[in-house]
Amino acid sequence: MKKDFLALSDWSREELEQIFELTRELKEKQKRGEEHHLLKGKTLGMIFEKSSTRTRVSFEVGMFQLGGHALFLHSGTTQLGRGEPIKDTGRVMSRYVDGIMIRTFSQEGVEELARCSDIPVINGLTDKYHPCQIMADIFTVIEHKGAFKDLAYCWIGDGNNMANSWINAAAIFGFELRVATPEGYEPDADVVARAEKLGAKILYTHDPAEAARGAHVLNTDVWASMGQEEEQQEREKAFTGFQLNSDIVQVADPACIVLHCLPAHRGEEITDEVIEGPHSVVFDEAENRLHVQKAIMATLMS
Ligand code: CP
Ligand code: NVA
Repeated sequence: MKKDFLALSDWSREELEQIFELTRELKEKQKRGEEHHLLKGKTLGMIFEKSSTRTRVSFEVGMFQLGGHALFLHSGTTQLGRGEPIKDTGRVMSRYVDGIMIRTFSQEGVEELARCSDIPVINGLTDKYHPCQIMADIFTVIEHKGAFKDLAYCWIGDGNNMANSWINAAAIFGFELRVATPEGYEPDADVVARAEKLGAKILYTHDPAEAARGAHVLNTDVWASMGQEEEQQEREKAFTGFQLNSDIVQVADPACIVLHCLPAHRGEEITDEVIEGPHSVVFDEAENRLHVQKAIMATLMS
């Protein structure tokens, strides 16, 4: 039976660890220049209803490195953008390609696409989750810290798709997570409730310093995500004090690492000093999107 990659919560810890194992192998092969054509002759359709740099480039390059091919389909230039139902799109694409990656607004839309497609569907970001990014983030932590389950993770900022994904990850892997958001910008209640049910070790606070104290991994994201541009000014006010800056780094573990999924708004959610500073691993993190997604595609599509 085909499997999709729509949310971390659909996967077991063991399955995700196997993806990390394959990521390591594929990254080493790519660095040594060894062929690793696990998806020779296969094609990935990439549907974008939002902008992207990393996701688009890393999936396209990843398919090429795996011996396959990727098609960039911007919704504005497809019939999907003119109102063709998602279920027809999924059925038609299933006749042409071997997998679909989609970046869109609603998680339900991605789930519907997966239900009506005979081929694996990968979530390349929705308003609710960004599962490929979280996999790259954790892989980056493993590379820099050697292990990841005994560390304390800190999220500062919006309770958005990245925060929701971190909560899923904390519930699956059992690591300690502290989430600091302004009031009214907490993560999705159903995601929080599900993690609680699974016994996740998560602290929710409105105090960034409390979340950061002694933390090994500091992480933030933009205050206004794609689709929330008109809320930018209102959010700038609400998020005052929720910046990942050197004061926050000071209270964290001295050997902490700083993550940001990018793109960053320097001077808003993170300072230039921190993103360029010695704790920042954001460009390794961005690179790892490529390696992790190759492992995800090979797992689903070969
Ligand atoms: N982090 C991330 O998904 O980047 P893009 O929006 O550039 O794809
Ligand atoms: N939260 C951001 C992540 C971008 C990769 C957004 O959804 O725009």
